[in-house]
Amino acid sequence: MGEEISRASTCSVRSNSEEETLCLGRKFGAGLTPGVTALLFGDLGAGKTVFARGIGDALGVARVHSPSFTLINEYKGEKFRLVHADLYRLDDADDLGLEEYLDDDAALLVEWPERWRNQPMDDTIKISFETIEDEPDKRIIHFSALGERALNTLKYLKKDLL
Ligand SMILES: Nc1ncnc2c1ncn2[C@@H]1O[C@H](COP(=O)(O)OP(=O)(O)OP(=O)(O)O)[C@@H](O)[C@H]1O
Ligand SMILES: [Mg+2]
Repeated sequence: MGEEISRASTCSVRSNSEEETLCLGRKFGAGLTPGVTALLFGDLGAGKTVFARGIGDALGVARVHSPSFTLINEYKGEKFRLVHADLYRLDDADDLGLEEYLDDDAALLVEWPERWRNQPMDDTIKISFETIEDEPDKRIIHFSALGERALNTLKYLKKDLL
């Protein structure tokens, strides 16, 4: 897993396999704290749910499943709740009430956050999964943190990657 650091609030990591993305999710999850939202951007099959499963592993929750049909899954972690939403099937997620999950005892993961106009601008990490033509198992995963708690989560991840 390679790394290039450009600014304190950003980071990009290369993944060469599903297993590496899972492992990166575990490392990210280890630094995640309640009150932080992770917005997971990327095409179908880019690796968002694999990464979310790694986060679930780190928080000690049961195996994270894609919430495509249920839209929102809630898991009880060892220290705090994990809420995992997938907005793919919605045109507009603003009536879903996702804001209600933004509290201090849960971390929120959102796949297809493009559908959510009121997405938070604070304590939020945008993570985008870039696929590479002719390299089906490679991804470049870009992190960008907004707000103090999100910056701390990213700082923790960077330390772990060194
Ligand atoms: N480096 C990689 N990282 C993550 N997944 C990979 C990688 N290489 C191959 N894959 C494959 O890509 C797929 C990723 O699936 P995943 O469900 O995580 O995508 P997703 O971004 O959640 O898609 P969707 O938008 O449909 O929910 C899996 O089949 C996985 O095996
Ligand atoms: Mg998914």
